[in-house]
Amino acid sequence: MSLNGKVAVVTGGASGIGRAIALKLASDGAAVAVWDLDESGAGETVNMITGAGGRAIACIGDASDVDAIAASAARTREELGAITILVNNAGITGFHAFLDISVDMLERMLRVNVMGPFLCSQAIIPDMLDAGWGRIVNISSSSAQTGAMMMTHYATSKGAVVAFTKALAREYASKGITVNNIPPGFVDTPMLRKSPVNVDAEAASANSPMGRPGKPEDIAAACSYLVSEAAGYVTGHTLGVNGGRVMP
Ligand SMILES: NC(=O)c1ccc[n+]([C@@H]2O[C@H](COP(=O)([O-])OP(=O)(O)OC[C@H]3O[C@@H](n4cnc5c(N)ncnc54)[C@H](O)[C@@H]3O)[C@@H](O)[C@H]2O)c1
Repeated sequence: MSLNGKVAVVTGGASGIGRAIALKLASDGAAVAVWDLDESGAGETVNMITGAGGRAIACIGDASDVDAIAASAARTREELGAITILVNNAGITGFHAFLDISVDMLERMLRVNVMGPFLCSQAIIPDMLDAGWGRIVNISSSSAQTGAMMMTHYATSKGAVVAFTKALAREYASKGITVNNIPPGFVDTPMLRKSPVNVDAEAASANSPMGRPGKPEDIAAACSYLVSEAAGYVTGHTLGVNGGRVMP
């Protein structure tokens, strides 16, 4: 899948799924901007890409803050060029009983997981319109498909990401811009391992059809397809990558 000459932004590219996507898109030929709050993790991702001969920069900031997004977009354009691939991957999770979820907790979840992809897309779509070509991939969650105990705020936010994907896909389908989403299931990442309920990815996946948790690289491979030329007629799609755990 050649992405030579293209510039990709991967939010949350300092860790887990985002890092695997950044590495994969770089190996496909894209110059990659890693937008993340985590300076050392983002630097590591950039070093992994440049060490393998690719081009990458880290933009440190909150990918749900409109001013930080504008600053990261300006730096990415200046150092790498116009941005025509956006992967909205940065996200936060939470495990709380429904009645314990405060307004602040709900607002933070919706800000990062919903407003982040929304505002990053608003900042970058003008580049895609100029190019007459663009690819947006939103990382949602299988919890939006199945529901999830103790995660009403998270599942609500990810359900919004699926709806956002479809609405944006319709609005820009005639402009050469595709918008799709990948809802991961259990993927073995720091997010899963650090969760307060100590999710055991192996145990949680034991009863799924493939009997194993996902790897960040599984998600990255699907993302590589969705941003490729080959996927030019695919838009508004939810591409499950979950070992058969969810078959809608
Ligand atoms: N791991 C799973 O099983 C799983 C399942 C379903 C969905 N997802 C989704 O996949 C995405 C990646 O998850 P992961 O497991 O790799 O998590 P992770 O915690 O390993 O990585 C998330 C990255 O996002 C960054 N980030 C968080 N908030 C940010 C913000 N406001 N601005 C910029 N960067 C921010 C973090 O610093 C981190 O580097 C998330 O959207 C998550 O909801 C993960």
